Amino acid sequence: MSQDLASSPIKLVTPLPGPRARALIEADRPYWSPSLIHCYPLYVKRAAGCMVEDVDGNVLLDCQAGIATCSTGHCHPAVVAAIQQQAGTLIHICGTDFHYPGYGELCRRLSRHAPGGTDDWQTFLTNSGTEGVEAAIKLARNHTGRGQIIAFRGAFHGRSTGALTLTASKPKYKAGFGPLLPGVHHADYPRPTEVPAGQTYAAHSLELLQKALVHDLLECTVPPKEVAAIILEPIQGEGGYVVPPREFLLRLREICDQHGILLVFDEVQSGMGRTGKMFAAEHFGVVPDIIVLAKGIASGMPLGAMMARRQFMTWGAGTHGSTTGGNPVCIAAALATMDLLEGGLIENAAVVGAHLKGRLEERLLGDPAGSGVIDVRGLGLMIGVEFATHEHSERVASLCYERGLLVLECGKKTIRIAPPLTITATQADVCVELFARTCADVARGAKAA
Ligand SMILES: Cc1ncc(COP(=O)(O)O)c(C=O)c1O
Repeated sequence: MSQDLASSPIKLVTPLPGPRARALIEADRPYWSPSLIHCYPLYVKRAAGCMVEDVDGNVLLDCQAGIATCSTGHCHPAVVAAIQQQAGTLIHICGTDFHYPGYGELCRRLSRHAPGGTDDWQTFLTNSGTEGVEAAIKLARNHTGRGQIIAFRGAFHGRSTGALTLTASKPKYKAGFGPLLPGVHHADYPRPTEVPAGQTYAAHSLELLQKALVHDLLECTVPPKEVAAIILEPIQGEGGYVVPPREFLLRLREICDQHGILLVFDEVQSGMGRTGKMFAAEHFGVVPDIIVLAKGIASGMPLGAMMARRQFMTWGAGTHGSTTGGNPVCIAAALATMDLLEGGLIENAAVVGAHLKGRLEERLLGDPAGSGVIDVRGLGLMIGVEFATHEHSERVASLCYERGLLVLECGKKTIRIAPPLTITATQADVCVELFARTCADVARGAKAA
């Protein structure tokens, strides 16, 4: 890792995007798939810690971490060393067919960290979160012999056909791709900004669950004995960084137990220390039957995991596999990542995350009219800032980029702040100042317009 870059402040030497970035983007444009989003025209040359340098020499503060993935910061020296060492020893042999060091160790360490403290989890390693979700769908169906799956509105579980069927955050993800997987149903996920006056968030979430899941689905349309799994993000990511009440997840656990349905937590975004605990599930005291991980697990190397309690991992040899899932180089990055998470980064996510959220609340909620912000929420370094309108959140995200701060939108009108777990309190303060100033400028502009 380049230490000079990691400790650099935000430094803008051209307007963003700079001339070199513009030229390179135009040269590349005819060749990449037009399905790529490119939320703003950032062309990255290198990155270290929480800082990203573009091809024009501009240095930006990264508070999105490659969509919540570079958990240990960009190019952490321990992760880089582990990758380099492994690349010179064994790059690939195929974990589905052969044994090698690291695969078992990673699975063992995940089991030891898993919620519930039972240390009886088995893991199938994948190349991505989407593949982990696919593996969860297959295992749940295979184990239960049932075909139906229930997911939640606002969810994002990936874009392959099965995972896409579960995804319900934006209609454009599904447009033109049907028919999708049969047997998938959706229920409502609570949102703190939609609680009716006079009701608590917990009561509202239980009412939603009773109406949309218990009554509309399990009592009227989907026989519970045919439901293999209920899958959800314990904190919705793409759907708007939504933290549900603990009661909501506890009630879901009860419903699953009552009907022999497997409870699957997609912790692709919320897992691996991001919320200040290894798994977000730990905040709620709810133990799922299957967990899917990816993103932060290997600091940006392509790796995912589908973990299940041993009693549910009943599929036989050859029922599922992958050529490069659990590749030795990605595993080396994951083991180094776990060392760093255990060695203080989870703690840092909790401490700096609380500081960051507290400062955002002070700056943005003290004067909602002046900031355009209606809610600040989240756990650890998974923080969502919801605006009154989509136009506002969109403008703030792109103006932050132009000012050297990388954040991303999620949901309909929320911005997610999900920096590397290495972020310092000083960098968090820079983020808050720049973000709050941008919100105020956009709010003033919106009023003037
Ligand atoms: C909660 C969740 N599940 C699954 C996925 C898909 O993961 P991947 O992009 O690694 O396939 C994502 C990606 O954003 C996600 O946030």
